[in-house]
Amino acid sequence: MAGLLIAGVISLGVLGVMSASAAGVGEEPPAVEKKKIKVGFAQTGAESGWRIAHTKSMKAEAKKRGVDFRFVDGRNEQANQIAAIRSFVAQRVDIIILSPIVETGWEPVLKEAKRAKIPVILLDRGVKVKDPDLYVCFIGSDFVEEGKMAGNWVVKKTKGKANIVELQGTPGSAPAHDRRSGFAEAIKKHPGLKIIASQSGDFRRRNGKEVMEAMLKKYPKEIDVVYAHNDDMALGAIQAIEEAGMKPGVDILLISVDALKVAFEAMVEGKLNCTVECSPLFGPAAFDAAEKVLAGKKMPKALYNKDEIYDQSVAKKLIDSRQY
Ligand code: AHR
Repeated sequence: MAGLLIAGVISLGVLGVMSASAAGVGEEPPAVEKKKIKVGFAQTGAESGWRIAHTKSMKAEAKKRGVDFRFVDGRNEQANQIAAIRSFVAQRVDIIILSPIVETGWEPVLKEAKRAKIPVILLDRGVKVKDPDLYVCFIGSDFVEEGKMAGNWVVKKTKGKANIVELQGTPGSAPAHDRRSGFAEAIKKHPGLKIIASQSGDFRRRNGKEVMEAMLKKYPKEIDVVYAHNDDMALGAIQAIEEAGMKPGVDILLISVDALKVAFEAMVEGKLNCTVECSPLFGPAAFDAAEKVLAGKKMPKALYNKDEIYDQSVAKKLIDSRQY
């Protein structure tokens, strides 16, 4: 089907199988106006390569399905995303998709959407709300599991003994919180693994570099492992390590999350050791869910991606197949 149709609208495909008598013999079939669904999408911003791939996937799928797609880049401010949701309500969109920059503070605006009878799908990141009916479903990755995968890799690679620097994502965001707790859980039985410093780099490459520069000044010889909550910050840290005259991937091991193609390039070059996948290619799943919700079908409350972990041993073989 070329586009999503809301309940009660007949598709051109259906008309195509009508009998001649039903359509009126010798008459032109009546023109059927295909009603496009109106989808408002409040994106966090464009902080990382992952986020840019996410936006691209949403826009491409909306175009493919002929959706009336209203996109707002929140420029990494919750206030902008809240204003976007209010404007979607005023525009009477059929459904709202929200990728929330942080977990808290959404109750009032989600209540406004609910009062206006506009369903909300949470995409990629979750929210903390008392009333779970403020959104219809969540689609995304299990960030705690991603953190655990990263932690288990560090346990194995270092045999349970290393000083770790953690580069956290955006403060208050679900992936920063969950990747931190998942990692901590995985390493907790290994007293030889110590997180000697943990600071936010806001999921951005530039900030990852700056934080790493400061860490290298404070701990010039002590750091064995960098755990970055996304690839962009790891790539920034790699630059800082090189500029400090050390070999990333050798003198200091690096593991991150996302599995961007550039991360695979860094693994092929031996500078990044491992990346945990977090697919941003949500377009098809997001619009499938929107279609189902608008057709009155029940959605599971949470749908999770299945994520993999990749290290240098597979990087060369898989790099050409990476889609983002
Ligand atoms: O919410 C997913 C995270 O947000 C990605 O890991 C990160 O790169 C992005 O900015």
